[in-house]
Amino acid sequence: MNEPRVRRDFSDGPLCLSGRGVTKVFGLGDKKTVAVDHVDFDFHEGEFVSIVGESGSGKTTLSKMLLGLLNPTEGEILFQGKPRDISSGRKKREYWKGIQAIFQDPFSSYNVFHKIDSVLLDCINMRGGRALSREKKIEMMTEACSFVNLKFAELTNKYPFELSGGQMQRLMIARIFLLKPRILLADEPTSMVDACSRATILDMLLELRNETGMTIIFITHDIGLAYYISDTVYIMEHGRFVESGPADKVILNPQAAYTKRLISDVPKIHEEWDLSTVDLKAEE
Ligand SMILES: Nc1ncnc2c1ncn2[C@@H]1O[C@H](COP(=O)(O)OP(=O)(O)OP(=O)(O)O)[C@@H](O)[C@H]1O
Ligand SMILES: [Mg+2]
Repeated sequence: MNEPRVRRDFSDGPLCLSGRGVTKVFGLGDKKTVAVDHVDFDFHEGEFVSIVGESGSGKTTLSKMLLGLLNPTEGEILFQGKPRDISSGRKKREYWKGIQAIFQDPFSSYNVFHKIDSVLLDCINMRGGRALSREKKIEMMTEACSFVNLKFAELTNKYPFELSGGQMQRLMIARIFLLKPRILLADEPTSMVDACSRATILDMLLELRNETGMTIIFITHDIGLAYYISDTVYIMEHGRFVESGPADKVILNPQAAYTKRLISDVPKIHEEWDLSTVDLKAEE
């Protein structure tokens, strides 16, 4: 992989998703877990945001609230600057048109009995392309596959279990290419693939953002990946954001002890994005 890319500052641009005091508590009494604890955030249109934290820090719980799959116990999520209303089934479906997700295990979010071409065809139909000619649909599916370096002709009539994990994750990105949501939430999408596929998938996500201007919210425990890919990072510890801001500012000049620890844990595999020169001893 190459040098960390040029980052952009989106902080003056239009808001996409924001949170004010967003909290999620599971259980009651002494079984209570505060999974997400009064977090504030502003994600902007077109911004590549990473949420970084260790296992159990609340990343998936927060992403489920962003997706509208869980309701916050307290606090408010805003969509394009206004309180998000997903109180009815119809409003929820409307919201879901603009937001998509890819997960750690691409096979889990997939109907295993669906052939690959029918999965891609569904995306075209969902985006109002049902009436398009068969030739046009094939052209669109071919384009989506070639965006992720897959050959459509070799995939037709195949089932998901006939693909590798990396191919499957790329197919999930081909779906996103066709669906063109305004927001993509990617929860640890590269943790189950090898380093080479990981780099390819990260670059595809970046290209997708660059081509479509979608907001990407990338969830990871790996601060090295976050440094490579994001404009902005939010560092999450025990349900709280301990620091946030431009990725290079936060990661090259970390203030919180937790951020420093995450950096010192960066696996050797990321030597190409050398974080070893970061001063971890600076005063808090
Ligand atoms: N449905 C649930 N019921 C009760 N507790 C839950 C539930 N979902 C999550 N939790 C708890 O909330 C906390 C945060 O979990 P979460 O899955 O959001 O963490 P995470 O940062 O995504 O971790 P990982 O990196 O392992 O995926 C954990 O203590 C977890 O046990
Ligand atoms: Mg998780």
